[in-house]
Amino acid sequence: MRKKVTVVGAGMVGGTTAHRLADKELCDVVLTDIIEGLPQGKGLDLAESAPIEGYDSRVLGTNDYKDTANSDIVVITAGIPRKPGMSRDDLLKTNYNIVKETTEKVVKYSPNSILIIVSNPLDAMAQTAYKASGFSKNRVLGMAGVLDSARMRTFIAEALDVSVENVTAFVLGGHGDTMVPLARYSTVAGIPLPDLMPKEKIDAIIKRTAQGGAEIVGLLKTGSAFYAPSAAIVEMVEAILKDKKKILPCAAYLEGEYGIKGLFVGVPVKLGARGIEQVIEIKLTPEERVALEKSAAAVKELVEIIGV
Ligand code: NAI
Ligand code: 2OP
Repeated sequence: MRKKVTVVGAGMVGGTTAHRLADKELCDVVLTDIIEGLPQGKGLDLAESAPIEGYDSRVLGTNDYKDTANSDIVVITAGIPRKPGMSRDDLLKTNYNIVKETTEKVVKYSPNSILIIVSNPLDAMAQTAYKASGFSKNRVLGMAGVLDSARMRTFIAEALDVSVENVTAFVLGGHGDTMVPLARYSTVAGIPLPDLMPKEKIDAIIKRTAQGGAEIVGLLKTGSAFYAPSAAIVEMVEAILKDKKKILPCAAYLEGEYGIKGLFVGVPVKLGARGIEQVIEIKLTPEERVALEKSAAAVKELVEIIGV
């Protein structure tokens, strides 16, 4: 039997995720949204692409959570972007309500699923879903690190004129300005980045990576990134569905790892059929530890506002 993945939020990230999942024939897809007609329209359009693309994944658009029943994975992209005149806290509270409500609805019908949270502010929304679901910590994770490290890989490959496939990058911390891209764990064909590039160039790449989301918003003007985010989501979904035991940077609930307790923060994890099967701990330099603590403090500030 085919696996089933529900995508909550049929906007830019949700719609593109459904497209990529079907294209790769990874699973059947249920796309849902609060707006009537939107998931149905995108779902039908994707279903009608199947004969041309040659996939047998079923894609269903719906406003009814009953259709999401028994999903193996639920991806939550529902939320609103920040509008003019809206504070960061307003966005936080609005998306908190949306993520809490949608989590409660999906877990009712898919009590054994794994939740991948995408809505922003990412780490605080992952914490919201974790608390609202009552799931064990291995079954709730947030997508950010795969995207942030993909951005860093892109910039490194571009600067050195090498294949992106040769480049690995390592980003820790919350999904925001305080994220911690680690140059010494970023490599090109196994060669550490500091052996290949002067410090100023590395610093510029790190800065651009941390501002990667804002760079796209500045260009698009009417929304945020969705191609790379959906690609990142699909890599995580694939690792779980195929039990790949792939090491990927994800937002995970930490209980003492990296000296952080009771908080979702981006760290390298092993992703397999049980969700997060292991948090990989690496030794940090004192500066890296300080940067990670600062990033965790920024997440904690948001989590305290919403009280999760
Ligand atoms: P979008 O505005 O295109 O789509 C969001 C969708 O959520 C809309 O269709 C809206 O109707 C739906 N929605 C709102 N309330 C809902 C509810 N109660 N139930 C079901 N659906 C509901 O936004 P986009 O570009 O798809 O982004 C979605 C979220 O993902 C945003 O919060 C964005 O900031 C975040 N994001 C996070 C990334 C990450 O790295 N973690 C990367 C890219 C986006
Ligand atoms: C991004 O990094 C908006 O969080 C989103 O593109």
